[in-house]
Amino acid sequence: MSAHTPPDPDNNVTSPLEDALGRPVRDLRISLLDRCNFRCPYCMPESEFHRDYQFLRKRELLAHDEILRIVRVAVSLGVTKLRLTGGEPLLDKKVPDLVAALAELKGVDDLALTTNGTLLAPMADALAQAGLHRVTVSLDTLDEKIFREMSGNRGDLQKVLQGIEAAEKAGLSPVKINTVVQRGINDHTVLDLLEHFRGSGHIVRLIEFMDVGNRNAWRMDQVVPSRELVDRIHERWPVRAIGRSYPGEVASRYEYEDGKGQLGFISSVTEPFCGACSRARLSADGVLYTCLFATAGTSLRDPLRAGADEARLAEILSSVWLRRKDRYSELRRPDATNTHVLKKVEMYRMGG
Ligand SMILES: C[S@@+](CC[C@H](N)C(=O)[O-])C[C@H]1O[C@@H](n2cnc3c(N)ncnc32)[C@H](O)[C@@H]1O
Ligand code: SF4
Repeated sequence: MSAHTPPDPDNNVTSPLEDALGRPVRDLRISLLDRCNFRCPYCMPESEFHRDYQFLRKRELLAHDEILRIVRVAVSLGVTKLRLTGGEPLLDKKVPDLVAALAELKGVDDLALTTNGTLLAPMADALAQAGLHRVTVSLDTLDEKIFREMSGNRGDLQKVLQGIEAAEKAGLSPVKINTVVQRGINDHTVLDLLEHFRGSGHIVRLIEFMDVGNRNAWRMDQVVPSRELVDRIHERWPVRAIGRSYPGEVASRYEYEDGKGQLGFISSVTEPFCGACSRARLSADGVLYTCLFATAGTSLRDPLRAGADEARLAEILSSVWLRRKDRYSELRRPDATNTHVLKKVEMYRMGG
């Protein structure tokens, strides 16, 4: 039996559920599907994820009503922030219906979605009307040729830019732009990207190339430390740190001293932030993970399909969280020689 107070049926949080290191569960990232219309080499390289690759079958994926049941339980245990992701979540044409149901849950104060942006323009209004608060759009460069390469020869840069514009018009703001930076690949185009979005109200977040999963041929020498980027940016447009806006926020925030807005740095490799990590992840096949770099998780789909009620699901979820001790990024050796040893779950599967 879990030591945690059982959830109250009205979804009111009775006491914060904290893990073994005293970190509350606050965020749930929900991967809707493992498929994607891109093949970004740092996530789903084409050589591994080819035409014959077997993605999850429909019956293996959680249905929306199953997702809702799990989210209700998670909210009753303290989750207040939800993010829909994948794979590419907008490949699921019924996402607005799911958003509408999630938006009605009492206790959810942040409802967001991460997308590569290609299918966003035609869906932005429907998502906003359904109650989505904001979107994060991944965009690694404005250089057409490099963009094409970094999407695995699938992406159309103009469509992504139209998606960002449509999201802004629909009120899904502030739009955050996620940019993975790889040395020798797109790091020389970062300033152009920042210049484009400076003063637009959108917030670019520069992400260190991470050793998620085991299939992206990660190499430490392709990581550009955020510190180095801050220095490069500061030379062009002076910036100052403004700190995180809430405990557990992944990005360290900066602002341009000339008032042209904010930018963020996600430095999981060089400045790990496990200490305040409040994120749980639900994979597309219903496995609960407590760390982005996890090697194993706990199925919620199996007990749910075997008839578990809400109280039982809450018991499983809380016992997993109470035992949680993950702090992978902090334990990664400085030379990162221990990263390939672990059989980590791929990011497209558990949700970025
Ligand atoms: C896995 S994707 C899923 C959502 C959607 N397909 C997208 O690309 O926005 C979520 C985020 O993870 C980031 N990501 C994927 N692999 C990464 C890696 N190896 N290092 C850093 N970020 C990564 C992507 O750039 C994206 O912003
Ligand atoms: S980062 Fe997103 S868009 Fe790129 S392959 Fe992974 S899931 Fe697809």
